[in-house]
Amino acid sequence: MKRYNVAIIGATGLVGSTFLKVLNEREFPIKQLFLFASCKSSGKKINYNNQVYTVEELTKDSFKNRKIDIALFSAGGETSQTYAPIAKENGVIVIDNSSAWRMEEEVPLVVPEVNPKDVFSHHGIIANPNCSTIQCVLPLKILHDNYGIKRIVYSTYQAVSGSGMAGLNDLKDNKTDKYPYPIQGNCLPHIDAFDDNGYTKEEVKMIEETKKILHDANLKITATTVRVPVKYGHCVSINVELYKPFDLKEIFLLFKDKEGIMLYDDVKNNVYPMPIIAEGKDEVYVGRIRRDFSLENGLNLFVVSDNIRKGAATNAVQIAEILIKE
Ligand SMILES: NC(=O)c1ccc[n+]([C@@H]2O[C@H](COP(=O)([O-])OP(=O)(O)OC[C@H]3O[C@@H](n4cnc5c(N)ncnc54)[C@H](OP(=O)(O)O)[C@@H]3O)[C@@H](O)[C@H]2O)c1
Repeated sequence: MKRYNVAIIGATGLVGSTFLKVLNEREFPIKQLFLFASCKSSGKKINYNNQVYTVEELTKDSFKNRKIDIALFSAGGETSQTYAPIAKENGVIVIDNSSAWRMEEEVPLVVPEVNPKDVFSHHGIIANPNCSTIQCVLPLKILHDNYGIKRIVYSTYQAVSGSGMAGLNDLKDNKTDKYPYPIQGNCLPHIDAFDDNGYTKEEVKMIEETKKILHDANLKITATTVRVPVKYGHCVSINVELYKPFDLKEIFLLFKDKEGIMLYDDVKNNVYPMPIIAEGKDEVYVGRIRRDFSLENGLNLFVVSDNIRKGAATNAVQIAEILIKE
C-alpha cells in the first residue's frame, strides 16, 4: 500500500492533537510525519503510534526538500494565510481548517458526505468548513435534494472548545481571557467579531459556507450563533422551509442509515441529541424532528456533533482519504 508524508500544522492544539488521534484510529497510511507549531512549542515531544516525534517551529523553509504530500493546517487564519501558499509552492496539498481560504472561488469547501467530488477541483488548497456548518449540511443536503430548500434559520449553542484551549481555560477557571464576559453560568450571543451590519463573522460563515457547499447561491439563510458553557459538542436548532410538501415519516426514513448521520429521535423515551451523547463521536446526531406549523412546508431539527472531531479533525482526515483514494 502506498504511504504518504503528512505534516500537521498546529500539532499541539486541540484540533491538531485530534488530527493525530483520528489519523491513527483510521489507520491513515503515513510514511513520514512532520509536526509543526509556533516557536513556543519547538522541541516538544509528541507520541504517535508508539513513536516519539519532535515538534518543530513552522518557518518559511519547513516544507522545503521534504516531499510532504499532505499538510493538515489548524493553526489559525493568519498562519494559513502566510504558510499555505508556501506549502503549495513546495508541492504539498493543504487541507486547511481556518477560515482563511474557504470562500476563495478556486478553493473547494468540502464535507465528504455532501460534496466529495469538489475535492478534485483543488489547486493545492482544500478548505474544511466551519464546525457548525459541517454538522448542518449533512441533513440539509438530503432535504435539499428531496424537497428543495427555500429558507434556513440557524440558532446555535456552541461549545467553548470551538475557541481552542483558550475557550476551555475561560470555562474552567472562570476567566475572561478569551471572552468579553464570563462563560460560566452564561450564554454569549457573540462568536467571532461583529460586522458593521450587526452580524458576527461566525454567522456570516454559516450563511455563506452553506450556500457554497450545497451549490445554491440563492438559498435564503439567517443565523444567530451563541457560545454556551459546554466543553465539547455544538448544537444547532435548524428551522427550514422547503419548497415541496413532505411527509414527516418519509423524512425520518431519509435520515435513517445515512452515512455520517445518527438519527436520534424518540422523544417518548427522552431520546434526543445532546453534547454528552455526541462528544467523542464522528456522527452528526439529528433529532427533535417536527413540523413547523407556522409555515406551509416548515420543518424543525436539532443537530449536535463533536466540533473537534466531525467539526474539524475527522472531516479533514476524510478529505485526505478521498485524495489518496484517487
Ligand atoms: N476548535 C474548533 O472547534 C475548531 C473547529 C474548526 C476549525 N478550527 C480551527 O483550527 C485552528 C486551531 O484551532 P484549535 O482549536 O486547535 O486552537 P488551539 O488549541 O489554540 O491551537 C492552536 C495551534 O496553532 C498553533 N499556532 C499558533 N500560532 C502559530 C504560528 N504562528 N505558527 C505555527 N503554529 C501556530 C499553536 O501552537 P503553540 O502550541 O506552539 O502555540 C497550536 O498548535 C483555528 O484556525 C480554528 O479556527 C477550530
